[in-house]
Amino acid sequence: MSWETIDRTTVAEEKLGPGLSAAAREKIRTFFPRYPSKRAAMLPALHIAQDEIGYCSLRAMRDIAELLEVPPSAVMDVVTFYTQFWTHPRGKKVITVCRSLSCELMGGKEVLAALKEKLGIDEHQTTPDGKYSLVTEECLASCDHGPCMQINEKTHKCVRVEDLDRILSDPDNDKISMPRSDIFDAPQKT
Ligand code: FES
Repeated sequence: MSWETIDRTTVAEEKLGPGLSAAAREKIRTFFPRYPSKRAAMLPALHIAQDEIGYCSLRAMRDIAELLEVPPSAVMDVVTFYTQFWTHPRGKKVITVCRSLSCELMGGKEVLAALKEKLGIDEHQTTPDGKYSLVTEECLASCDHGPCMQINEKTHKCVRVEDLDRILSDPDNDKISMPRSDIFDAPQKT
């Protein structure tokens, strides 16, 4: 067996994806005073990038590395560690089905199978119209209301297969009534 060296320093322009806008860069900068180092603002920076672009493109990771004054590989390390960050385009809404024990005992597997059939996609895929992507995750912290799933940030509890058509056709199925964390919104200036 022989080892092959892969040169990752050159990436075709079309594979870099979109970069950060000036507004996103500015928003990331507003997080710097909160932390002892720029590097510590990595997670909010990635959330801002993903919010703006829809995923963490290579160009956005490079932009963040530049802003945080770290090597691009340090940004990619974080992106590929957390399943919440996507390295390729995802659907407008991400459906996350719980695959842990309590939900499975209450019918989570059946809900997942029905979703795959209704959407015509498998896990980590996106519907052709770009509306939904489907993934599974460990416990979503609503074990007493299994089976449950999230659509973007909204948790749907005690989901039955027969509820799915109603849930999927509801345009507000991802809307939450509480304010989002300020991890997404720039902190107040003091
Ligand atoms: S086991 Fe499904 S939310 Fe905890």
